Amino acid sequence: MKSKLIVGNWKMNGGLRTNSALLEAIQSGLSGVTCRAAVCVPAPYLAQMQTLLADSPVAWGAQDVSAHEAGAYTGEVSATMLQDFGVRYCIVGHSERRQYHSETDALVAVKAQRALSAGITPIVCVGETQAEREAGQTEAVVKRQLAAVIHANGHCISEIVVAYEPVWAIGTGLTAAPEQAQAVHALLRKQLQAASSQADRIAILYGGSMNAVNAATLLAQPDIDGGLVGGAALQADDFLTILNSASR
Ligand code: PGA
Repeated sequence: MKSKLIVGNWKMNGGLRTNSALLEAIQSGLSGVTCRAAVCVPAPYLAQMQTLLADSPVAWGAQDVSAHEAGAYTGEVSATMLQDFGVRYCIVGHSERRQYHSETDALVAVKAQRALSAGITPIVCVGETQAEREAGQTEAVVKRQLAAVIHANGHCISEIVVAYEPVWAIGTGLTAAPEQAQAVHALLRKQLQAASSQADRIAILYGGSMNAVNAATLLAQPDIDGGLVGGAALQADDFLTILNSASR
């Protein structure tokens, strides 16, 4: 069985001092943790991660990457810049970016491509809104979002990580029921298997109000390979409980 992967998504939170206190607390509690772990931090703190996590089993990542390689794109951060800071993972297509920055499926697919070509693992987020779920469109929406990335990335697809994050569960305290999440994970798995003979290497994470209490049950589902954790990743105790749940 491949080891599970837990990724903290700090979103736009943190500061030099709070980051180092949080990481110190996390690192001091890692004995017994056997799953893979990472934190995706705001871009200005990547250099700090490179220093503080250099000898740690905890990897670090970014939360976005430019779809462009270089040039006149004020405010953008390229994949090769992320590479300079030892970034292992990069979240792409988070629903907050799709929603507040109008990111399309096509743009997300190019971002995944940029990350892959810099040797960075894109964590491709897919997920339906409440309205889409109520309209019975969950399957169509997540398949469409993933299809764009599969189409643009061909055989490299086995190098990605997928995160299923129902939009209605993000930051709301509402979690998908384990069976609900499992059902979507199973269909994403099938879609990946149809696209690549190496699909079984791809971790499919669940995200959306995963916390210290519900993590174990979610992670016990056969197609849930880990978690993308927002709020609970900012509390060392909660994050460590999730890491321990993923290490069983
Ligand atoms: P949440 O966020 O755990 O706070 O719901 C998850 C995410 O947005 O990645």
